[in-house]
Amino acid sequence: MRIPDAAPGAKVLAFGHYQPATVVTNDDLAKTIDTNDEWIQSRVGIKERRIAGPAESLEDMATQAGGKALAASGLSADDIDLVIVATCTLETQIPNAAAVVAHRLGINSPGAFDVNAACAGFCYALATASAAVRGGAARHVLVIGAEKLSQWIDWTDRSTAVIFADGAGAAVVGPTDEPAIGPVVWGSSGDRSEAIIIHDRNDSLHQEGQTVFRWATTALHPVAKEACDRAGIDPSQLAAFVPHQANLRIIEAIARKLGAENAVIARDIVTAGNTSAASIPLALSRMIERGEVRSGDLALLIGFGAGLTYAAQVIEVP
Ligand code: UT7
Repeated sequence: MRIPDAAPGAKVLAFGHYQPATVVTNDDLAKTIDTNDEWIQSRVGIKERRIAGPAESLEDMATQAGGKALAASGLSADDIDLVIVATCTLETQIPNAAAVVAHRLGINSPGAFDVNAACAGFCYALATASAAVRGGAARHVLVIGAEKLSQWIDWTDRSTAVIFADGAGAAVVGPTDEPAIGPVVWGSSGDRSEAIIIHDRNDSLHQEGQTVFRWATTALHPVAKEACDRAGIDPSQLAAFVPHQANLRIIEAIARKLGAENAVIARDIVTAGNTSAASIPLALSRMIERGEVRSGDLALLIGFGAGLTYAAQVIEVP
């Protein structure tokens, strides 16, 4: 047996992102629920977030982000042979988002599936795309993280309504001689699967905030460090640290414990809120757009969330 299309390595060729137009500030939320700007900014770090309108679907946002990543990659729809959408907020159980988005982008007959690893989903999907390219199962993969959390939130529950938001980010992954997506470090802690949960289709998202906070600030910096070790780099070599945008205090705690002293730290949560599987590609795409990171820079990604799931890998910025 031989594997004709296997590649020595995989790399991200381009990122793209999309955010809905409607900006919802903390003061806007304080008009309808018992909260205030000071509490939200000091406890979570969010100033404002984007929320999709009722007519704007998760697939719409994913298509926008995916189309931008595809255009930035210089490839055409015909070059893509696998589409993966990381999401945990799709409203339709079937069909999956990936097939719908692929069709809308004019990608002809790709492999298409969704990944649900909640807020860790993009890193799981990126690792899967990298493995598919290296293993010869795909040549070019469109990986999208997209969420419409607003349709799964109880807007009268102040403990979640102030945190979660909508958006999408995407990456195109392709083959390369020199690996530019490092080994993934992933895992889960199903004993705490009740900590973030939507029980059924009539329910909304519940979160044991402090349980998750304690876990995120104590268990994840070793995962981040291991991702650096497995990529053969020291955290001081990182130019960017792009963790899931859950809480500014969590982001800063992991960065401090990791010791990535030369890295620009993604703080996209301030204006984008927590967009779950979309938050990492959204944050990094916006950092690239603002010129905060350059092509060839090393960036550490780490996603974490419901499950509890986590995944981390080092990548070269395209
Ligand atoms: O994305 C997936 C992964 N998720 C995470 O990583 C989330 C991790 N957890 C967190 O980020 C934080 O736990 C939260 C931001 C969710 C909550 O912050 P906290 O500092 O843990 O607050 P808390 O839940 O302990 O609540 C403290 C107080 C409570 O009042 P009392 O009982 O002390 O009187 C809450 O009722 O703050 C109150 N509170 C609020 N007050 C104003 C809760 N939500 C709000 C609010 N506005 N929106």
